[in-house]
Amino acid sequence: MGVFVQVEVIPAILSKTRSDLLSKINSVSSYVNLIQLDIMDGFFVPNKTVGLSDLTDLPPLQYEFHWMVNDPINWIKHFPGPHIHLVHIETIPNKEEFDRIESLIKKQGGQMGLAINPPTPIESLLPFIPRVSEVLIMTVNPGFSGQKYIYAMESRLRLLRSKFPKLTIEVDGGVNLETIHHAYQNGANYLAAASAIFSGTDIGSNIVALKKRAIGDAGG
Ligand code: DX5
Repeated sequence: MGVFVQVEVIPAILSKTRSDLLSKINSVSSYVNLIQLDIMDGFFVPNKTVGLSDLTDLPPLQYEFHWMVNDPINWIKHFPGPHIHLVHIETIPNKEEFDRIESLIKKQGGQMGLAINPPTPIESLLPFIPRVSEVLIMTVNPGFSGQKYIYAMESRLRLLRSKFPKLTIEVDGGVNLETIHHAYQNGANYLAAASAIFSGTDIGSNIVALKKRAIGDAGG
């Protein structure tokens, strides 16, 4: 793992109601620099989360929106400001559409990242990497928390880290005390987790333990 990139443990919040969303945001905000909001439209993935009307007036924190939606532009346009927008490569049919999404995000003062699902060839992403601020490697098929980390995705982490030593590479899905060190060792520096953070009662300790395990202790 290179020394050039910042390591962050990122809470992934998948909520079906605004009250659950706000309570989860509040529960992690003092422990982290960045919060991932998982947004699902029921079409791109077989699950649906909070929608536009639930996402107004969020606490002023640093968010990355993970857009698991078929038409990201129609969502992103409602969220001006310095947010990170993680857009799935599967929802970008061609270069012209990439250009449109990129220019909207730039105009709004945000940053664009690209996310990729396990079955999608990594080659589809490579040409765009110099134009984005980060890449999100899904280590589960998105839709639900609590799934098993797909170890085979680590070859993607190694490939990207070798090609792009300074790139922010995030993993999401099945990241927990057992798997986080493997993700880090193979090249990921942003480590998103839902169940490993929100289970139990001590969210702060969960976050500290994950970060410690990622960078220090292989956990056997
Ligand atoms: C995948 C979501 C993930 C998921 C992670 O559907 O994008 O963020 O909630 O959940 P865990 O960490 O429980 O696998």
